[in-house]
Amino acid sequence: MVSWDDGKLELTVGERTLCFPAVWLRDNCPCPTCRDPDSGQKLKDVTDIPNGLAVAAAEDIGESVVVTYAPDRHRSTFSRSWLADHALDGAGGDGGRTQDDGRTEDDKELWLPADLGELPQGSWPRYLAEPAYRGRVLDAVLRRGFALLRGVPAEAGRVLEVAASFGFVRETNYGRLFDVRVEPRPGNLAFTSRPILPHTDNPYRDPVPTVQLLHCLRAADDGGQTSLTDGFAAARELRATDREAFQIVAGTPVPFGYTDQSTELRASQPLIQLSPRGRVRGIRFNNRSARPLRLPYAEVTAFYAAYRRWAELLARPERQLTLRLAPGDCLILDNTRILHGRSAFGGTGRRHLQGCYADLDGLASTLAVLRRRGMAGMDGNEEKEEHHDRDRDDRGAVRRAGSARLPRRARDHRRAPAAGRGPGRGGPGDEGGRGGGWGAGGGGPAA
Ligand code: OGA
Ligand code: ZN
Ligand code: ZN
Repeated sequence: MVSWDDGKLELTVGERTLCFPAVWLRDNCPCPTCRDPDSGQKLKDVTDIPNGLAVAAAEDIGESVVVTYAPDRHRSTFSRSWLADHALDGAGGDGGRTQDDGRTEDDKELWLPADLGELPQGSWPRYLAEPAYRGRVLDAVLRRGFALLRGVPAEAGRVLEVAASFGFVRETNYGRLFDVRVEPRPGNLAFTSRPILPHTDNPYRDPVPTVQLLHCLRAADDGGQTSLTDGFAAARELRATDREAFQIVAGTPVPFGYTDQSTELRASQPLIQLSPRGRVRGIRFNNRSARPLRLPYAEVTAFYAAYRRWAELLARPERQLTLRLAPGDCLILDNTRILHGRSAFGGTGRRHLQGCYADLDGLASTLAVLRRRGMAGMDGNEEKEEHHDRDRDDRGAVRRAGSARLPRRARDHRRAPAAGRGPGRGGPGDEGGRGGGWGAGGGGPAA
């Protein structure tokens, strides 16, 4: 059933009545004058929509709804399933969460070590061979904030292969990759044998690298244990137990900085970042690189009280998951959520990790493409190709051409992205055939 009155379209789908304003429908019109059929991108700007647009008529034609607008008699054809999938705020009963981007606390599984269950971990050879398994590991990074890959050969440069398996390496002043080991003149406490309190990396960078990898080449003889803390879970507790402190921490930009001979980085952001809807979306926590606050006296004292409260809550022993990385272990961390730290270690020079950075958007894209293809239906053969066409640079680090990074099918897809994507088409290709083969089991452990 469809009906309309001036401003809007009403559509009955099962038990639900969906309502769409004319301007929204027009902005999403899938016709070839409004949208490029090849790329699926819009050809019109919002200012091209006639002011005071109304729905003049609407008719049901099988699976489609044809809308005619006043005053200009333009017509749009929408599939009912597309309209149902894109029901507006509130219609799906989720209070507008569909507007969120998957990065806030609402789309995560917050954890304390005690209720984490099985560690989100996986085997690197299996990760390479089985797309569905790879999907579970990547899903663990998005939902739980980390995954531990075992069996990544304990060789220099391999961490870059792990990053390239799901995204793009984010090169920084520390290089494409960095060595974490005791250095004679360390520019960073990470390069000593001191303990490092739980922190997120590179808070002095904006945008911050959103994924961090740490690959163990050699473990310490004693000590050097890794700790992981779910910052989103802790932020939820702060909000529940001390709302005022939460608001101060989330509302006060903190200046961070990093300086060495060739680098002068500055960024100023709150320790808890909220989405436009006020949901927790990012944690920056790193006292080592915090710079002097410059706020009015009263605000500074209030901030320190809240900051102390936040730091105490994060540091509670029951929040720390401790691991001992063994050679071949590679952690993939959501650096916008999970704090990592390490205990002091003995001896000098023996412990050796290599790290690099990447980003969550690329990781999420890789996972979405795996899902679009139904993962389980993929054979592992073409995946192997990506691990052959690489060469090594003169420092022994692995380099790979950007275009060789993805398996062939993924590259082809980038060239022909739009077929079947628009609102008029619906069907299995629509926005990637969500749920292909993964669906309900999505959040399971990667082990
Ligand atoms: C780092 C770091 C932890 C470790 O390099 O960012 O925090 O285990 N290292 O050495
Ligand atoms: Zn149109
Ligand atoms: Zn670190």
